[in-house]
Amino acid sequence: MKEIIRQLVETTGPSGYESDVRALVKKMLKGQVDSMKVDALGNLITRKGKKSKDGLTVMLSAHMDEIGIIATHIDDNGFVRFTSVGGVFPRNTAGGRVRFLKTGQVGVIGMESHKNQSSVPGLEKMYIDVGASKRSDVKVSVGDVAAFDRPFEDLGTRLVSKAMDDRIGVAVLMEVMKQLKTTPHEVVGVFSTQEEVGTRGATTAAYGVDPDLGIALDVTLTGDTPNADTMAVSLGNGPAIKVKDGGMISDPRVVAWMEAGAKRARLPYQMEVLTGGTTDARSIQMTRAGVPVGCVSIPCRYVHSPSEMVDYGDVQNSVKLLLALLSKPVQLR
Ligand code: CO
Ligand code: ZN
Repeated sequence: MKEIIRQLVETTGPSGYESDVRALVKKMLKGQVDSMKVDALGNLITRKGKKSKDGLTVMLSAHMDEIGIIATHIDDNGFVRFTSVGGVFPRNTAGGRVRFLKTGQVGVIGMESHKNQSSVPGLEKMYIDVGASKRSDVKVSVGDVAAFDRPFEDLGTRLVSKAMDDRIGVAVLMEVMKQLKTTPHEVVGVFSTQEEVGTRGATTAAYGVDPDLGIALDVTLTGDTPNADTMAVSLGNGPAIKVKDGGMISDPRVVAWMEAGAKRARLPYQMEVLTGGTTDARSIQMTRAGVPVGCVSIPCRYVHSPSEMVDYGDVQNSVKLLLALLSKPVQLR
């Protein structure tokens, strides 16, 4: 799976500009699912299996988009001002590099004079330096979108890259769709758009799919680094079964079903309570008249930085957990 992950994270797709990621997923899933279609918001909706007597329509959702930036102004000396696409933290930004989608032009993120070393200025004090000596060297226009630029690193057990959030979920979902053989369910694998700007793709996808059960696949934070905020999730302790995050409370029946499934399959797992942030599951839960939802999270350090770190064992166990859950009828009680 590592080569697939590398290709996914090294492809660029800030929110609203997911087409390259979608093309890659489509190519990799060709012939492995029963159907594929793209909806108006760009969600790639894949299906496998038929809904039997004791089966459900199960929507799985992993978002293709990543955080990025958008050019707002270019000055006479060729410095590009920008604003964020999704949750870009200023502290993770200065000194980084971005690559513009249209032209491939790479720039370094610089910062205005800032004497106070213990504070971080906002993005409005930062600019992108594409190495131009004059305005005409800048192949960037207002409205052009760029992604953070950082290669994939395989550290052995741990994998590092930009856009692990949520290409790692995309990789898990692709693997599940490929490996799923016998299931009583109609499994709908949605590769969603615009999650980082408010789970927008999943909102329309969920309405269109009209599922009986929804599961998001996304990253979550960990509490296992020096002086981290307290959180009972660690890298390498298995997939995290989400109980609650900042925007969604998992259906307790779905949580119990996931936990029982992990135990039955003898897979490691951990329980997740995340105090901020949310996932596509929020949108699935609140579509139409409401849907029972849960979320399988892949623990990830340094989320929304150019060096997001996951554990390869957690990734593989997430695939195994989902396959185990989906191969049998679902009893919610
Ligand atoms: Co995110
Ligand atoms: Zn995410």
